[in-house]
Amino acid sequence: MDYLLKVVALLVTAFAIVIHLLTRAKKSCPANLPPGSLGLPVIGQTLGILRAMHVNSVDHWFGDRIGRYGPVSKFSLFGKPTVLLAGPAANKLMFFSSLLPPYVPLFSQRILGEKNILSLYGDDHRRIRGALMEFLKPDMLKLYVNRIDAEVRHHLEENWAGRTTVTVLPLMKRLTFNIISALVFGLEASAVRDAFAHDVGCMLAGMIAIPVNLPFTTFRRSLKASQRARRLLEGIMREKKAEQGDSPNKNLISHLLSMRDEHGEQVLTHEEIVDNSLIPMIAGHDTASTLMTFMIRHLANDPATLATMAQEHEEIARNKADGEPLTWVDLSNMKFTWRVAQETLRIVPVVVASFKIALDDIEFGGYRIPKGWQVLWTASATHMDPSIFPEPAKFDPSRFENLSSTTPPCSFVGFGGGPRICPGMEFAKVQVLVTMHYLVRHFTWKLSCKENTFTRNPVPSPRHGLPIQLQHKSTL
Ligand code: HEM
Repeated sequence: MDYLLKVVALLVTAFAIVIHLLTRAKKSCPANLPPGSLGLPVIGQTLGILRAMHVNSVDHWFGDRIGRYGPVSKFSLFGKPTVLLAGPAANKLMFFSSLLPPYVPLFSQRILGEKNILSLYGDDHRRIRGALMEFLKPDMLKLYVNRIDAEVRHHLEENWAGRTTVTVLPLMKRLTFNIISALVFGLEASAVRDAFAHDVGCMLAGMIAIPVNLPFTTFRRSLKASQRARRLLEGIMREKKAEQGDSPNKNLISHLLSMRDEHGEQVLTHEEIVDNSLIPMIAGHDTASTLMTFMIRHLANDPATLATMAQEHEEIARNKADGEPLTWVDLSNMKFTWRVAQETLRIVPVVVASFKIALDDIEFGGYRIPKGWQVLWTASATHMDPSIFPEPAKFDPSRFENLSSTTPPCSFVGFGGGPRICPGMEFAKVQVLVTMHYLVRHFTWKLSCKENTFTRNPVPSPRHGLPIQLQHKSTL
């Protein structure tokens, strides 16, 4: 198989070189483009960046480029001319310019649905985002703490208690999947939920697969899974509509169905509700589970940070009766734990880079970014810049005590920034804090895998899913 892949790569490269030689004389280069080469047609720098993702050296890949060409450079990715922008000023442009909405390729839209929030901009984006935020705002999250607390405890009792070894990443994925299923779709444990979990996995796999819609391809499986997931959600929506008096706070679908404008009309169409109910699962399930996995990975080898965290959680537990669930106020006292989460995200950003598309020509840093080009931002350019975060490789949660007074705006971008900043940040925070509370109070752990490395596809994924050895401190 490896041999076959090498032959295909060789043929594609040879074909690209021929096209390049035939066409280069005719090309006229628009003026004032950023420095850098677009490389070979079709391939550009795609193979280099994919390899860097795989061996987890993508930070160096970006760093080398920025070192060579400066904070604005051009290259070519997935057959499209692309500009890499780096630094706080570039991040500000990326997050605040209305000329740079996210770039969602058509093949991803086929999986996510045309009306998904990531593919929209302008008024449509604001309307959908406003509706999602109504469900994800702190006043609403307060109502879910109890439910999330119950899900976390149930998960730990079922999957961690009494075990001497566990594999963290798949368990964290199961936990965040169950939490989102309950809160977003009102789906409790059942065969239907298991089938839905399988379909969500296929959809995610299709987002990073070669987009060829032929039998037996990952992409074809992903499209089929998306159709099944959509049918399931349409069914849930019909049920919720029929349930007279269903509380709009019960789950996201009931909430979106209940929203009315000033004329009493439903704010979102059925297609918009289906597409955007799926988004929290796609954008929120792998991200939050990955962050928790990497916190567990780090804490295994940082006893000082773990001890400070454990102390924070013991103090909170001291004021509670046995078995009493956590409250919103308890979460607000977990400041150190959230700094540990932020520092983990700084060093290992779950979203390391993301694409925008230039809707018009844009001037930046003395260069022109032509209309229609892809623009890429990368979190590591600022997260690992020693002039912004001194000794960037050192794990130091205290950096986040007073971040806004010590770093320029848009330096820490683990959740993005501007009007498209992650709307699920506070929801992710509740999940992380509740889970960490029970983990550090009841368990200690050691990494069982000697090879403590990770790959990116594109979210970071520890080798072998992070197996650990567990010791129980106290019963749950
Ligand atoms: C640790 C967990 C999470 C991380 C690190 C994270 C990170 C991010 C980042 C970096 C962006 C901006 C991407 C860009 O500008 O290109 C983003 C956007 C988004 N995130 Fe999250 N996210 C997390 C959890 C969640 C959760 C739990 C949800 C849903 C409940 C969610 C829903 C979204 C949505 C809908 C967007 C697009 C917003 C828009 O375009 O207006 N995320 N996230």
